[in-house]
Amino acid sequence: MRFDKEKYEVKELTLENSTIKYRAFKNLVYVDKPVNEEFQRMNIFVPEAYYDGFSINGYTLDTAPVFMPNTVGGYMPGELDEPGFNKFGPRQLNSIFQALLHGYVVAAPAIRGRVQKNGQGIYTGKAPACIVDYKAAVRYLHYFSQELPGDENKIITNGTSAGGALSSLMGATGNHPDYIPYLEEIGAADAGDEIFAASCYCPITNLDHADMAYEWEFSGVYDYHRMHMTMAEGGRPSFTPVDGEMTDVQIKASKEEEVLFPAYVNSLGLRDKQGNVLTLDEQGEGSFKAYVESVVLASAQRAMEQGRDVSDKKWLNVQDGKAVSMDFKAYVKDITRMKTAPAFDDLTMDSPENNLFGIAYMDCCHFTKYSAEHSMADGVMADKNIVKMMNPMYYIEDAQSDIAQHWRIRHGECDRDTSLAISAMLTLKLENVGKKVDYHAPWDMPHAGDYDLNELFAWIDGICK
Ligand code: DHB
Repeated sequence: MRFDKEKYEVKELTLENSTIKYRAFKNLVYVDKPVNEEFQRMNIFVPEAYYDGFSINGYTLDTAPVFMPNTVGGYMPGELDEPGFNKFGPRQLNSIFQALLHGYVVAAPAIRGRVQKNGQGIYTGKAPACIVDYKAAVRYLHYFSQELPGDENKIITNGTSAGGALSSLMGATGNHPDYIPYLEEIGAADAGDEIFAASCYCPITNLDHADMAYEWEFSGVYDYHRMHMTMAEGGRPSFTPVDGEMTDVQIKASKEEEVLFPAYVNSLGLRDKQGNVLTLDEQGEGSFKAYVESVVLASAQRAMEQGRDVSDKKWLNVQDGKAVSMDFKAYVKDITRMKTAPAFDDLTMDSPENNLFGIAYMDCCHFTKYSAEHSMADGVMADKNIVKMMNPMYYIEDAQSDIAQHWRIRHGECDRDTSLAISAMLTLKLENVGKKVDYHAPWDMPHAGDYDLNELFAWIDGICK
Protein backbone atom coordinates (compact mmCIF):
# COMPACT_ATOMS: atom_id res chain seq x y z
CA MET A 1 0.00 0.00 0.00
CA ARG A 2 1.54 3.24 -1.16
CA PHE A 3 0.68 6.76 -2.17
CA ASP A 4 3.10 8.45 -4.53
CA LYS A 5 2.33 12.15 -4.97
CA GLU A 6 4.38 12.27 -8.15
CA LYS A 7 2.56 9.47 -9.91
CA TYR A 8 -0.36 11.09 -11.68
CA GLU A 9 -1.75 12.13 -15.03
CA VAL A 10 -3.31 15.49 -15.82
CA LYS A 11 -6.39 15.15 -17.98
CA GLU A 12 -8.88 17.45 -19.59
CA LEU A 13 -12.37 16.31 -20.42
CA THR A 14 -15.22 18.19 -22.08
CA LEU A 15 -18.69 16.69 -21.94
CA GLU A 16 -21.97 18.47 -22.53
CA ASN A 17 -20.27 21.87 -22.73
CA SER A 18 -18.51 21.49 -19.39
CA THR A 19 -14.77 21.09 -19.14
CA ILE A 20 -12.85 19.67 -16.23
CA LYS A 21 -9.09 19.59 -15.90
CA TYR A 22 -8.02 17.22 -13.20
CA ARG A 23 -5.14 15.30 -11.73
CA ALA A 24 -5.75 11.56 -11.66
CA PHE A 25 -4.02 9.22 -9.19
CA LYS A 26 -5.15 5.87 -10.48
CA ASN A 27 -5.18 2.25 -9.44
CA LEU A 28 -4.17 2.81 -5.83
CA VAL A 29 -4.39 -0.57 -4.12
CA TYR A 30 -5.90 0.29 -0.74
CA VAL A 31 -4.91 -2.80 1.26
CA ASP A 32 -1.66 -4.66 1.89
CA LYS A 33 -3.03 -8.16 1.45
CA PRO A 34 -5.60 -7.95 -1.35
CA VAL A 35 -7.70 -11.01 -2.08
CA ASN A 36 -8.88 -9.39 -5.30
CA GLU A 37 -6.40 -6.76 -6.38
CA GLU A 38 -8.48 -5.65 -9.35
CA PHE A 39 -11.30 -4.58 -7.05
CA GLN A 40 -9.43 -3.49 -3.93
CA ARG A 41 -8.15 -0.33 -5.55
CA MET A 42 -9.28 3.22 -5.97
CA ASN A 43 -8.88 6.28 -8.14
CA ILE A 44 -8.38 9.74 -6.66
CA PHE A 45 -9.19 12.79 -8.75
CA VAL A 46 -8.37 16.40 -7.93
CA PRO A 47 -9.27 19.63 -9.75
CA GLU A 48 -5.99 20.68 -11.36
CA ALA A 49 -6.70 24.35 -10.60
CA TYR A 50 -5.85 23.65 -6.96
CA TYR A 51 -2.26 22.90 -7.93
CA ASP A 52 -2.06 26.29 -9.63
CA GLY A 53 -3.11 27.92 -6.38
CA PHE A 54 -6.71 28.68 -7.35
CA SER A 55 -9.76 28.01 -5.25
CA ILE A 56 -13.13 26.65 -6.40
CA ASN A 57 -16.32 27.46 -4.52
CA GLY A 58 -14.14 28.67 -1.68
CA TYR A 59 -12.21 25.39 -1.39
CA THR A 60 -8.47 24.88 -1.80
CA LEU A 61 -6.18 21.90 -2.23
CA ASP A 62 -6.19 21.37 1.53
CA THR A 63 -9.76 22.23 2.40
CA ALA A 64 -11.81 20.59 -0.35
CA PRO A 65 -14.22 17.92 0.94
CA VAL A 66 -13.49 14.37 -0.19
CA PHE A 67 -16.49 13.02 -2.08
CA MET A 68 -16.44 9.23 -2.06
CA PRO A 69 -18.99 7.61 -4.35
CA ASN A 70 -19.25 3.87 -4.78
CA THR A 71 -20.51 2.08 -7.89
CA VAL A 72 -22.10 -0.90 -6.14
CA GLY A 73 -25.52 -1.99 -7.40
CA GLY A 74 -27.35 -5.19 -6.52
CA TYR A 75 -24.51 -6.05 -4.13
CA MET A 76 -22.55 -6.88 -7.27
CA PRO A 77 -18.89 -5.89 -7.62
CA GLY A 78 -18.46 -2.12 -7.81
CA GLU A 79 -16.21 -1.31 -10.74
CA LEU A 80 -13.46 1.28 -10.66
CA ASP A 81 -14.86 4.49 -12.12
CA GLU A 82 -13.73 7.81 -13.57
CA PRO A 83 -15.27 11.05 -14.81
CA GLY A 84 -17.74 10.41 -17.62
CA PHE A 85 -21.35 9.48 -18.11
CA ASN A 86 -23.42 7.30 -15.82
CA LYS A 87 -23.24 3.67 -16.85
CA PHE A 88 -26.91 3.02 -16.08
CA GLY A 89 -30.09 5.02 -16.16
CA PRO A 90 -30.62 8.25 -18.06
CA ARG A 91 -27.62 9.73 -19.86
CA GLN A 92 -26.14 12.08 -17.30
CA LEU A 93 -22.69 13.27 -16.32
CA ASN A 94 -21.63 11.02 -13.48
CA SER A 95 -21.14 12.19 -9.94
CA ILE A 96 -17.35 12.10 -10.30
CA PHE A 97 -17.41 14.55 -13.21
CA GLN A 98 -19.87 16.84 -11.48
CA ALA A 99 -18.06 16.71 -8.14
CA LEU A 100 -14.78 17.75 -9.77
CA LEU A 101 -16.55 20.58 -11.55
CA HIS A 102 -17.87 21.66 -8.16
CA GLY A 103 -14.40 21.61 -6.57
CA TYR A 104 -14.41 18.40 -4.55
CA VAL A 105 -11.60 15.92 -4.34
CA VAL A 106 -13.05 12.58 -5.43
CA ALA A 107 -11.96 9.22 -4.02
CA ALA A 108 -13.64 6.50 -6.06
CA PRO A 109 -13.00 2.96 -4.87
CA ALA A 110 -13.82 -0.31 -6.56
CA ILE A 111 -15.41 -2.77 -4.13
CA ARG A 112 -15.78 -6.56 -4.11
CA GLY A 113 -19.17 -8.09 -4.81
CA ARG A 114 -21.19 -11.21 -4.15
CA VAL A 115 -20.38 -13.22 -7.30
CA GLN A 116 -16.60 -13.10 -7.21
CA LYS A 117 -14.40 -16.17 -6.75
CA ASN A 118 -10.66 -16.73 -6.50
CA GLY A 119 -8.60 -19.16 -8.56
CA GLN A 120 -9.54 -22.00 -6.20
CA GLY A 121 -13.25 -21.42 -6.78
CA ILE A 122 -13.79 -19.94 -3.31
CA TYR A 123 -16.15 -16.98 -3.06
CA THR A 124 -14.28 -13.85 -2.03
CA GLY A 125 -16.92 -11.13 -2.30
CA LYS A 126 -19.69 -12.37 -0.01
CA ALA A 127 -20.83 -10.25 2.96
CA PRO A 128 -19.22 -8.45 4.66
CA ALA A 129 -16.60 -7.97 1.89
CA CYS A 130 -18.30 -4.92 0.35
CA ILE A 131 -18.45 -2.92 3.56
CA VAL A 132 -15.00 -4.08 4.65
CA ASP A 133 -13.52 -2.83 1.36
CA TYR A 134 -15.27 0.53 1.62
CA LYS A 135 -13.88 0.90 5.14
CA ALA A 136 -10.41 -0.14 4.00
CA ALA A 137 -10.51 2.56 1.32
CA VAL A 138 -11.43 5.17 3.96
CA ARG A 139 -8.63 3.94 6.20
CA TYR A 140 -6.23 4.47 3.28
CA LEU A 141 -7.44 8.06 2.96
CA HIS A 142 -6.96 8.72 6.66
CA TYR A 143 -3.60 6.96 6.74
CA PHE A 144 -2.16 9.08 3.92
CA SER A 145 -4.06 12.24 4.80
CA GLN A 146 -0.88 14.32 5.15
CA GLU A 147 0.15 13.57 1.58
CA LEU A 148 -3.29 13.44 0.03
CA PRO A 149 -5.17 16.40 -1.38
CA GLY A 150 -8.43 17.45 0.26
CA ASP A 151 -9.63 17.42 3.86
CA GLU A 152 -9.84 13.81 5.03
CA ASN A 153 -11.91 14.94 8.00
CA LYS A 154 -14.63 15.78 5.48
CA ILE A 155 -15.22 12.46 3.75
CA ILE A 156 -18.74 12.10 2.33
CA THR A 157 -19.73 8.67 1.05
CA ASN A 158 -22.40 8.35 -1.64
CA GLY A 159 -24.23 5.45 -3.22
CA THR A 160 -27.51 4.19 -4.62
CA SER A 161 -29.56 1.16 -3.63
CA ALA A 162 -27.08 -1.50 -2.44
CA GLY A 163 -24.51 1.29 -2.76
CA GLY A 164 -26.79 3.52 -0.65
CA ALA A 165 -26.94 0.75 1.91
CA LEU A 166 -23.14 0.67 2.00
CA SER A 167 -23.02 4.43 2.45
CA SER A 168 -25.44 4.11 5.37
CA LEU A 169 -23.24 1.41 6.91
CA MET A 170 -20.20 3.64 6.52
CA GLY A 171 -22.06 6.36 8.38
CA ALA A 172 -23.30 4.10 11.16
CA THR A 173 -20.33 1.86 11.92
CA GLY A 174 -17.24 4.10 11.98
CA ASN A 175 -14.35 2.36 13.78
CA HIS A 176 -16.62 -0.36 15.17
CA PRO A 177 -14.56 -3.34 16.42
CA ASP A 178 -16.82 -5.91 14.70
CA TYR A 179 -15.06 -5.20 11.41
CA ILE A 180 -11.49 -5.19 12.68
CA PRO A 181 -10.68 -8.89 12.11
CA TYR A 182 -11.84 -8.58 8.49
CA LEU A 183 -9.86 -5.38 7.97
CA GLU A 184 -6.76 -6.95 9.48
CA GLU A 185 -7.13 -10.00 7.26
CA ILE A 186 -6.83 -7.89 4.10
CA GLY A 187 -4.09 -5.68 5.52
CA ALA A 188 -6.09 -2.46 5.75
CA ALA A 189 -4.18 0.61 6.88
CA ASP A 190 -3.79 1.24 10.59
CA ALA A 191 -6.09 4.27 10.67
CA GLY A 192 -9.70 5.16 11.41
CA ASP A 193 -12.61 4.37 9.10
CA GLU A 194 -15.00 7.04 10.37
CA ILE A 195 -16.58 9.44 7.88
CA PHE A 196 -18.01 12.94 8.16
CA ALA A 197 -21.26 12.46 6.27
CA ALA A 198 -23.28 9.82 4.46
CA SER A 199 -25.40 10.37 1.37
CA CYS A 200 -27.73 7.46 0.76
CA TYR A 201 -30.07 7.05 -2.20
CA CYS A 202 -32.79 4.41 -1.72
CA PRO A 203 -30.70 2.27 0.64
CA ILE A 204 -31.55 -1.44 0.30
CA THR A 205 -30.70 -2.03 3.92
CA ASN A 206 -31.97 -3.51 7.19
CA LEU A 207 -32.15 -6.69 5.12
CA ASP A 208 -33.12 -8.94 8.02
CA HIS A 209 -36.31 -6.89 8.55
CA ALA A 210 -36.94 -5.79 4.97
CA ASP A 211 -39.28 -8.70 4.20
CA MET A 212 -41.70 -7.87 7.00
CA ALA A 213 -41.54 -4.16 6.17
CA TYR A 214 -42.34 -4.93 2.54
CA GLU A 215 -45.36 -7.05 3.42
CA TRP A 216 -46.57 -4.44 5.89
CA GLU A 217 -46.46 -1.82 3.14
CA PHE A 218 -47.91 -3.97 0.35
CA SER A 219 -50.37 -5.74 2.62
CA GLY A 220 -53.17 -7.34 0.60
CA VAL A 221 -51.59 -6.49 -2.78
CA TYR A 222 -50.80 -9.80 -4.41
CA ASP A 223 -50.18 -8.88 -8.05
CA TYR A 224 -46.64 -7.86 -8.92
CA HIS A 225 -45.10 -5.88 -11.73
CA ARG A 226 -41.42 -5.67 -12.45
CA MET A 227 -38.93 -5.34 -15.25
CA HIS A 228 -36.69 -8.18 -16.29
CA MET A 229 -33.28 -6.93 -17.27
CA THR A 230 -31.04 -8.59 -19.81
CA MET A 231 -27.73 -7.34 -21.07
CA ALA A 232 -28.03 -6.56 -24.75
CA GLU A 233 -25.05 -6.51 -27.04
CA GLY A 234 -22.73 -3.63 -26.36
CA GLY A 235 -23.38 -3.91 -22.62
CA ARG A 236 -26.59 -1.88 -22.66
CA PRO A 237 -29.35 -3.27 -20.47
CA SER A 238 -32.73 -3.97 -22.02
CA PHE A 239 -35.95 -4.46 -20.08
CA THR A 240 -39.08 -6.53 -20.56
CA PRO A 241 -42.09 -6.27 -18.23
CA VAL A 242 -43.03 -9.24 -16.03
CA ASP A 243 -46.51 -9.17 -14.48
CA GLY A 244 -47.96 -11.89 -12.30
CA GLU A 245 -49.98 -13.04 -9.32
CA MET A 246 -48.29 -14.37 -6.24
CA THR A 247 -48.65 -18.10 -5.60
CA ASP A 248 -50.49 -19.50 -2.57
CA VAL A 249 -47.15 -20.09 -0.85
CA GLN A 250 -46.13 -16.48 -1.48
CA ILE A 251 -49.47 -15.13 -0.26
CA LYS A 252 -49.12 -17.20 2.90
CA ALA A 253 -45.62 -15.82 3.38
CA SER A 254 -46.94 -12.30 2.84
CA LYS A 255 -49.58 -12.72 5.54
CA GLU A 256 -47.15 -14.33 7.97
CA GLU A 257 -44.45 -11.69 7.40
CA GLU A 258 -46.65 -8.62 7.72
CA VAL A 259 -47.77 -9.51 11.23
CA LEU A 260 -44.12 -9.71 12.34
CA PHE A 261 -43.50 -6.06 11.53
CA PRO A 262 -45.30 -4.24 14.38
CA ALA A 263 -43.28 -6.01 17.08
CA TYR A 264 -40.07 -5.06 15.29
CA VAL A 265 -41.03 -1.40 14.87
CA ASN A 266 -42.17 -1.22 18.48
CA SER A 267 -38.89 -2.73 19.69
CA LEU A 268 -36.97 0.21 18.18
CA GLY A 269 -38.53 2.80 20.48
CA LEU A 270 -38.67 5.36 17.66
CA ARG A 271 -39.76 8.90 18.43
CA ASP A 272 -40.75 11.76 16.17
CA LYS A 273 -39.31 15.30 16.46
CA GLN A 274 -41.88 16.15 19.16
CA GLY A 275 -40.81 13.12 21.19
CA ASN A 276 -43.96 11.09 20.53
CA VAL A 277 -43.30 7.36 20.45
CA LEU A 278 -44.02 5.82 17.03
CA THR A 279 -45.64 2.41 17.17
CA LEU A 280 -47.91 0.00 15.29
CA ASP A 281 -50.72 -2.10 16.67
CA GLU A 282 -51.28 -5.73 15.73
CA GLN A 283 -53.21 -4.66 12.65
CA GLY A 284 -50.22 -2.62 11.46
CA GLU A 285 -51.97 0.67 12.21
CA GLY A 286 -50.69 3.47 14.40
CA SER A 287 -48.38 6.44 14.76
CA PHE A 288 -45.51 4.88 12.80
CA LYS A 289 -47.81 4.45 9.82
CA ALA A 290 -48.87 8.07 10.20
CA TYR A 291 -45.19 9.01 10.11
CA VAL A 292 -44.63 7.11 6.84
CA GLU A 293 -47.73 8.81 5.44
CA SER A 294 -46.32 12.16 6.50
CA VAL A 295 -43.23 11.43 4.40
CA VAL A 296 -45.40 10.81 1.33
CA LEU A 297 -47.49 13.91 2.07
CA ALA A 298 -44.35 16.05 2.43
CA SER A 299 -43.27 14.70 -0.95
CA ALA A 300 -46.57 15.76 -2.55
CA GLN A 301 -46.36 19.12 -0.81
CA ARG A 302 -42.89 19.89 -2.10
CA ALA A 303 -43.93 18.76 -5.60
CA MET A 304 -46.90 21.15 -5.55
CA GLU A 305 -44.68 23.98 -4.34
CA GLN A 306 -42.45 23.27 -7.34
CA GLY A 307 -45.47 23.72 -9.56
CA ARG A 308 -46.06 20.07 -10.32
CA ASP A 309 -49.50 18.69 -10.95
CA VAL A 310 -50.40 15.94 -8.47
CA SER A 311 -54.11 15.83 -9.26
CA ASP A 312 -53.88 12.43 -10.98
CA LYS A 313 -53.19 10.81 -7.59
CA LYS A 314 -56.65 9.84 -6.45
CA TRP A 315 -55.30 8.56 -3.12
CA LEU A 316 -54.05 12.03 -2.22
CA ASN A 317 -56.30 14.52 -0.44
CA VAL A 318 -55.33 18.14 -1.17
CA GLN A 319 -57.18 21.00 0.52
CA ASP A 320 -56.36 24.67 -0.06
CA GLY A 321 -53.05 23.75 -1.67
CA LYS A 322 -52.02 21.50 1.22
CA ALA A 323 -51.53 17.72 1.04
CA VAL A 324 -53.53 16.87 4.16
CA SER A 325 -54.15 13.13 4.09
CA MET A 326 -53.90 10.00 1.98
CA ASP A 327 -55.38 6.58 1.46
CA PHE A 328 -52.36 4.36 2.13
CA LYS A 329 -53.91 1.21 0.63
CA ALA A 330 -54.79 3.04 -2.58
CA TYR A 331 -51.30 4.56 -2.68
CA VAL A 332 -49.54 1.18 -2.58
CA LYS A 333 -51.98 -0.22 -5.16
CA ASP A 334 -51.10 2.73 -7.36
CA ILE A 335 -47.31 2.40 -7.09
CA THR A 336 -47.73 -1.41 -7.32
CA ARG A 337 -45.83 -4.27 -5.75
CA MET A 338 -42.58 -5.21 -7.45
CA LYS A 339 -41.39 -8.23 -5.48
CA THR A 340 -43.06 -11.47 -4.43
CA ALA A 341 -43.02 -12.51 -0.77
CA PRO A 342 -40.61 -12.85 0.91
CA ALA A 343 -39.09 -9.98 -1.01
CA PHE A 344 -35.46 -10.38 0.09
CA ASP A 345 -34.87 -13.67 1.87
CA ASP A 346 -36.42 -15.74 -0.89
CA LEU A 347 -37.69 -19.20 0.08
CA THR A 348 -35.87 -20.70 -2.90
CA MET A 349 -32.80 -18.53 -2.17
CA ASP A 350 -33.05 -16.89 -5.56
CA SER A 351 -32.48 -13.24 -4.55
CA PRO A 352 -29.42 -10.98 -4.70
CA GLU A 353 -29.50 -10.86 -0.90
CA ASN A 354 -29.45 -14.66 -0.48
CA ASN A 355 -26.43 -14.55 -2.74
CA LEU A 356 -24.85 -11.73 -0.73
CA PHE A 357 -25.03 -13.82 2.43
CA GLY A 358 -23.42 -16.87 0.87
CA ILE A 359 -20.13 -18.05 2.33
CA ALA A 360 -16.77 -19.24 1.02
CA TYR A 361 -18.07 -22.57 -0.33
CA MET A 362 -21.80 -21.90 -0.47
CA ASP A 363 -23.36 -19.53 -2.97
CA CYS A 364 -26.54 -18.62 -1.07
CA CYS A 365 -27.88 -18.59 2.48
CA HIS A 366 -30.94 -17.46 4.37
CA PHE A 367 -30.67 -14.51 6.72
CA THR A 368 -34.07 -14.42 8.44
CA LYS A 369 -35.58 -16.89 10.85
CA TYR A 370 -38.83 -16.99 8.88
CA SER A 371 -37.28 -17.98 5.57
CA ALA A 372 -34.80 -20.40 7.12
CA GLU A 373 -37.72 -22.18 8.79
CA HIS A 374 -39.79 -22.17 5.58
CA SER A 375 -36.93 -22.81 3.18
CA MET A 376 -37.86 -24.59 -0.04
CA ALA A 377 -34.20 -25.02 -0.93
CA ASP A 378 -32.82 -26.70 2.20
CA GLY A 379 -31.06 -23.43 2.86
CA VAL A 380 -28.99 -22.74 5.92
CA MET A 381 -28.80 -19.57 7.95
CA ALA A 382 -25.97 -17.09 7.45
CA ASP A 383 -23.71 -16.25 10.38
CA LYS A 384 -25.66 -14.01 12.74
CA ASN A 385 -22.76 -11.62 13.21
CA ILE A 386 -22.37 -11.13 9.47
CA VAL A 387 -26.09 -10.34 9.11
CA LYS A 388 -25.59 -7.82 11.90
CA MET A 389 -22.54 -6.29 10.17
CA MET A 390 -24.64 -5.56 7.08
CA ASN A 391 -27.33 -3.68 9.03
CA PRO A 392 -26.67 -0.10 10.22
CA MET A 393 -29.67 -0.24 12.58
CA TYR A 394 -27.73 -2.37 15.10
CA TYR A 395 -24.91 0.17 15.37
CA ILE A 396 -26.69 3.49 15.77
CA GLU A 397 -27.02 3.22 19.54
CA ASP A 398 -23.71 1.43 20.00
CA ALA A 399 -21.19 3.57 21.89
CA GLN A 400 -18.38 1.78 20.03
CA SER A 401 -19.49 3.32 16.73
CA ASP A 402 -18.30 6.71 15.56
CA ILE A 403 -21.43 7.75 13.72
CA ALA A 404 -21.34 10.33 10.94
CA GLN A 405 -22.70 13.67 12.14
CA HIS A 406 -24.55 14.43 8.91
CA TRP A 407 -26.87 12.35 6.80
CA ARG A 408 -28.79 12.85 3.61
CA ILE A 409 -31.27 10.14 2.74
CA ARG A 410 -33.38 10.12 -0.42
CA HIS A 411 -35.95 7.44 -1.13
CA GLY A 412 -38.18 7.90 -4.17
CA GLU A 413 -41.86 8.31 -3.38
CA CYS A 414 -42.82 5.46 -5.72
CA ASP A 415 -39.80 3.22 -5.05
CA ARG A 416 -40.92 -0.41 -4.66
CA ASP A 417 -37.56 -2.10 -4.38
CA THR A 418 -37.85 -1.81 -0.63
CA SER A 419 -40.47 -0.38 1.72
CA LEU A 420 -40.43 3.32 2.52
CA ALA A 421 -40.50 2.14 6.13
CA ILE A 422 -36.83 1.09 5.78
CA SER A 423 -35.50 4.60 5.15
CA ALA A 424 -38.02 6.02 7.64
CA MET A 425 -36.78 3.76 10.45
CA LEU A 426 -33.14 4.55 9.62
CA THR A 427 -33.86 8.28 9.68
CA LEU A 428 -35.77 8.16 12.96
CA LYS A 429 -33.17 6.02 14.69
CA LEU A 430 -30.44 8.47 13.67
CA GLU A 431 -32.47 11.48 14.74
CA ASN A 432 -33.21 9.80 18.05
CA VAL A 433 -29.47 9.74 18.85
CA GLY A 434 -29.10 13.39 17.87
CA LYS A 435 -27.78 13.09 14.32
CA LYS A 436 -28.85 15.53 11.63
CA VAL A 437 -30.76 13.86 8.81
CA ASP A 438 -31.96 15.55 5.65
CA TYR A 439 -34.61 13.04 4.61
CA HIS A 440 -37.01 13.34 1.72
CA ALA A 441 -38.96 11.13 -0.67
CA PRO A 442 -38.81 12.88 -4.05
CA TRP A 443 -42.16 12.92 -5.77
CA ASP A 444 -42.86 10.37 -8.50
CA MET A 445 -39.29 9.12 -8.19
CA PRO A 446 -38.69 5.38 -8.58
CA HIS A 447 -35.65 3.40 -7.42
CA ALA A 448 -32.80 5.68 -8.54
CA GLY A 449 -29.94 7.89 -7.38
CA ASP A 450 -27.72 10.88 -8.18
CA TYR A 451 -30.70 12.66 -9.78
CA ASP A 452 -30.30 15.86 -7.74
CA LEU A 453 -26.55 16.33 -7.50
CA ASN A 454 -26.82 20.13 -7.38
CA GLU A 455 -28.93 19.81 -4.25
CA LEU A 456 -26.64 17.16 -2.82
CA PHE A 457 -23.62 19.42 -3.36
CA ALA A 458 -25.44 22.39 -1.83
CA TRP A 459 -26.08 20.21 1.21
CA ILE A 460 -22.42 19.15 1.34
CA ASP A 461 -21.29 22.79 1.10
CA GLY A 462 -23.70 23.67 3.88
CA ILE A 463 -22.25 21.13 6.30
CA CYS A 464 -18.60 21.66 5.31
CA LYS A 465 -18.36 25.43 5.45
C1 DHB B 1 -30.66 -3.38 -5.65
C2 DHB B 1 -32.01 -3.47 -5.94
C3 DHB B 1 -32.77 -4.41 -5.30
O1 DHB B 1 -34.10 -4.51 -5.53
C4 DHB B 1 -32.20 -5.26 -4.37
O2 DHB B 1 -32.96 -6.18 -3.76
C5 DHB B 1 -30.85 -5.15 -4.07
C6 DHB B 1 -30.09 -4.20 -4.70
C7 DHB B 1 -29.85 -2.35 -6.35
O3 DHB B 1 -30.34 -1.72 -7.30
O4 DHB B 1 -28.69 -2.16 -5.96
